[in-house]
Amino acid sequence: MRRPLVAGNWKMNGSLESVRDLLDGIKRGIDEVRVAEVAVCPTYVFLPETEKLLAGSVIGWGGQDLSTEGAGAFTGEVAASMLNDFGCQYVIVGHSERRTYHVESDELVAKKYAVARAAGLKPILCIGETLEEREAGITEQVVARQLDAVIDLEGVDALADGVIAYEPVWAIGTGKTATPEQAQDVHAFIRGRVAQKSAEVAEGLRILYGGSMKPDNAGELIGKPDIDGGLIGGASLKAEDFLGICTAAN
Ligand code: PGA
Repeated sequence: MRRPLVAGNWKMNGSLESVRDLLDGIKRGIDEVRVAEVAVCPTYVFLPETEKLLAGSVIGWGGQDLSTEGAGAFTGEVAASMLNDFGCQYVIVGHSERRTYHVESDELVAKKYAVARAAGLKPILCIGETLEEREAGITEQVVARQLDAVIDLEGVDALADGVIAYEPVWAIGTGKTATPEQAQDVHAFIRGRVAQKSAEVAEGLRILYGGSMKPDNAGELIGKPDIDGGLIGGASLKAEDFLGICTAAN
């Protein structure tokens, strides 16, 4: 049995005050939900406050990205060890916004996955196709390529230390959710591809869905056999909505 994971990707949102309110709201509501694992990923500068407020709670936290480098002259970058310093357990790698706006290649994302893993962080590897790619019928080719970059660099066993988030780019922030069937098809494909290398890793691998997941569609999505939780953007910025998705994940 895979434990579901619901992770909030806060992206570049919030102020110190709103982050405090949000964390407080999630903390207050979380006792009533019995989902196995819940985590939030605020932007870097709010990690110290997040650690302060969440330490000792059942809610985990993580970064939204990390550098492939350990330290040095890399202006604007944040190292894995710095995420460790603030108690992060997770880090998102290869989000489509990073791949698009920061031109992150499959190889760079794979390297980030490796660096996160070496630092004892649980990487949440985002993969997914654009609308053009879906319409061209190459969804499976695209997610296979993104997945294989990590397997080629680190071996299939590396996936046992991480989580995959299938996020169709056309569904992110658009209000257009993949249907549970569309999502399940791709999740099953991903698990099948991993199973070709290791049935054991595939069986234990958590594959989250991301892209306009909300309290009212989360239950149906997470109810599918190969969907093991969600990576939530917009709906993770309101405690009530985020908790609603956590409840649905039960
Ligand atoms: P969304 O974002 O829930 O706002 O669509 C998901 C994500 O980008 O991780």
